[in-house]
Amino acid sequence: MIFVTGGAGFIGSNFVVDWLTPAAGQSAPLRNEPVLVIDCLTYAGNLANLAVVRDNPKLLFERQDICDSAAVLALLRKHRPRALLHFAAESHVDRSILGPAEFVRTNINGTFALLEAARTYYGELPGAERDAFRFLHVSTDEVYGSLGPVDPAFSETTAYAPNSPYAASKAASDHLVRAYHHTYGLPVLTTNCSNNYGPLQFPEKLIPLVTLNALQGKPLPIYGDGSNVRDWLYVGDHCSGIRTVLQNGRLGETYNIGGRTEMQNLAVVKTICATLDALRPRNSGSYSQQITFVKDRPGHDRRYAIDCSKIERELGWTPVETFASGIRKTVEWYLNSSAWVEQVTSGKYRDWVSLQYGTAA
Ligand code: NAD
Ligand code: TYD
Repeated sequence: MIFVTGGAGFIGSNFVVDWLTPAAGQSAPLRNEPVLVIDCLTYAGNLANLAVVRDNPKLLFERQDICDSAAVLALLRKHRPRALLHFAAESHVDRSILGPAEFVRTNINGTFALLEAARTYYGELPGAERDAFRFLHVSTDEVYGSLGPVDPAFSETTAYAPNSPYAASKAASDHLVRAYHHTYGLPVLTTNCSNNYGPLQFPEKLIPLVTLNALQGKPLPIYGDGSNVRDWLYVGDHCSGIRTVLQNGRLGETYNIGGRTEMQNLAVVKTICATLDALRPRNSGSYSQQITFVKDRPGHDRRYAIDCSKIERELGWTPVETFASGIRKTVEWYLNSSAWVEQVTSGKYRDWVSLQYGTAA
């Protein structure tokens, strides 16, 4: 079996669902095996994200904080997974600005605790199981910092220069993972991916926030002048990249994963508005009339761009979705998932929106 930390969050749950129910035509040589999700269910973790596989006997779940190394080690010894895929994290930049402590705890101390558990477990494994074991660490392109307009895209050899507490905590976790390979021989793989979007993303991130605000007639908040650039990747393509690295990645290596889809934030928001205009037109005019420019994020990185030629060249991975096809699938999913939206946007979500946006959103 495999372990997936953070499997009740956005990317982790998409990964688990894809793993247990591969789409028609997708090859699934290694995916007919059970998954144990380890997740402590923070505000961002939601068992409803796993609803479509809830009755699958291959899905196991443990509500567990990754910072408890002894508890994770006990689970490793009990289930003897061939791989631990580490998605669990505090993941939202704006929250890291308002409250960095939780990011240091989960992203740094939590990764350290997992590595310690994995090191002990790995050391106890006999020959073939030991050779097969992998620790795959899911990380972000934000560790590389910010690019100027004509700088070359981030490659695996770009120097780390994190600018937000989130990015710094992920950078620290990447360094720990690397060190456990070099020092203890732990068989690690690291992926650094660009901005994801798709079904099940918590509506604190740009794309779901704008989609839901638009439908509710609320302002669409754009930080600064909207010219900051991100590279966007559909979550299903990120999941296929992770499966590819797990299967064929070289031990100790890092792989950048990206969509070759650099877009300014304003263009992203206008694309969402145009998609909604086509699928669920307003009574009059376009959703883009709701666009509102708000105070910029402190230390807002200007541009991210990913050079993903290493994973393409070495492992043959390539994304399937274009931004046009991916955003349409995503908006359609939010339009058809009102029960999920209702559940995740109640209570504490409203507290976050009023703290971050005041009355603007
Ligand atoms: P998310 O915030 O949606 O989900 C995080 C999950 O981790 C939640 O289910 C939460 O309950 C769980 N979690 C948090 N702290 C925990 C702890 N101490 N113990 C156990 N579980 C805990 O995040 P996401 O967007 O799905 O991101 C997953 C991973 O991918 C993260 O490591 C993130 O850094 C990385 N990543 C995200 C993006 C993106 O665009 N979202 C891009 C690149 C990389
Ligand atoms: P986000 O989805 O928070 O991802 P990240 O900060 O990890 O890139 O934000 C994506 C971009 O959108 C980023 O440049 C910040 C911007 N943004 C807004 O303009 N308005 C918002 O309300 C949010 C949440 C983000």
